[in-house]
Amino acid sequence: MEKQEFLQKYLVERRGTNCSKWDGLKEKFGEKDLLAMWVADMEFRTCDAIVDAMVERTRHGVFGYGIVPDHYYEVFSAWMERRYGFLVEKDWVRFSTGCVTAIAWMIHAYTRPGDACMILTPVYYPFHNVVTNNGRTLVKVELDYEKGYFTMNAKKIEKAIVEHQVKLFLMCSPHNPAGRVWTEEELEEVLSICRRHQVLVISDEIHQDIVFEERKFVPAAVVSGGKYRDMVITLNSASKTFNLATLIHSHILITDERLREIYDKFASGLNRTEVSVMGMVAAMAGYEHGEGWMQQVLEIIHDNYLYLKDTLARELPKVQVCCMEGTYLPMVDLRAYVEPDKTQEFVQKKCGLAVDYGEWFGESYKGFIRINLATDPKFVEEAARRLVRAVQVQEDALCKQ
Ligand SMILES: Cc1ncc(COP(=O)(O)O)c(C=O)c1O
Repeated sequence: MEKQEFLQKYLVERRGTNCSKWDGLKEKFGEKDLLAMWVADMEFRTCDAIVDAMVERTRHGVFGYGIVPDHYYEVFSAWMERRYGFLVEKDWVRFSTGCVTAIAWMIHAYTRPGDACMILTPVYYPFHNVVTNNGRTLVKVELDYEKGYFTMNAKKIEKAIVEHQVKLFLMCSPHNPAGRVWTEEELEEVLSICRRHQVLVISDEIHQDIVFEERKFVPAAVVSGGKYRDMVITLNSASKTFNLATLIHSHILITDERLREIYDKFASGLNRTEVSVMGMVAAMAGYEHGEGWMQQVLEIIHDNYLYLKDTLARELPKVQVCCMEGTYLPMVDLRAYVEPDKTQEFVQKKCGLAVDYGEWFGESYKGFIRINLATDPKFVEEAARRLVRAVQVQEDALCKQ
């Protein structure tokens, strides 16, 4: 399908549908007439196969307790194997009502109150809260940052692990909001450090399918032929891939028998980890029939990224649009033009934009904003236009002083 045709078919008005991105603007930002470029969901309707499968299930009209059919495991495993060389066995899969919920469960299952859990900042803000709100000690290690590119610093990571006796590393791969798709070499380096110090790795791979330009996503469980499977648990879902977040359905992949035993014992205390039937129906249809839709969405997101990067490079050469090898959520460093403390005022009041702010992901990132590019190209053009204009007005005012 041509891009314009795709956009016409799949872009829909979301205001008035109780969506947090638009209908929640007033509550989150204090005003409702902002251009919503925040939160991590897409403006696109999901693929027809998913809608059809859900409609059919809805027509049946019974939403009682469900089971997961073998076909689910077949299509999910086929997706994982074909795309990432990760042949997922049925016995390894557990379900949860979202990746963040699963992180909380991992913390409870594998650590004790007060234990140190490490994250690499800037990172998705629930990573911070889920550790502290569950009574564990949060250890933050900053990614290195240079000219829009983030990297893991092995020395800093190992030092922090030793110093704080870290028990669990909550990894984000691909990394939101750093935009990095970690290479196998990078993963090997950090996993081998974790091995040396017996740190359990929870790898949140929810963005696994949102990857661009020949970048190859490598699941942590596949690094070096699966060498780290006894110390890695993978969390993923179809929710970013097909825009299904509130169907609350995600996977916990536990390849190691000993770790599965510990988890299952913990889960028996939860009493019920029932699968979301609608989430299952949707994910199954997506894995089976949705790849073409996903590829078209990825092209649009990538075009949006190139547009934003090129426009800002031309009009505001000191702005740094950070790398986006994966995810649809690049950071933009505005510090050359806007005082970090004034970023929120500038972006919201002068540009009328709703974005995620850098400091939500890590203290050092005041002056950065995160922009959601899984959206209408017209919104990206408008956001870029508003940023350029607001900076020009500010620069003109400075010249006149
Ligand atoms: C890294 C990461 N993990 C988890 C989530 C949310 O997952 P869920 O809605 O399944 O809890 C997000 C959403 O943006 C995310 O970026």
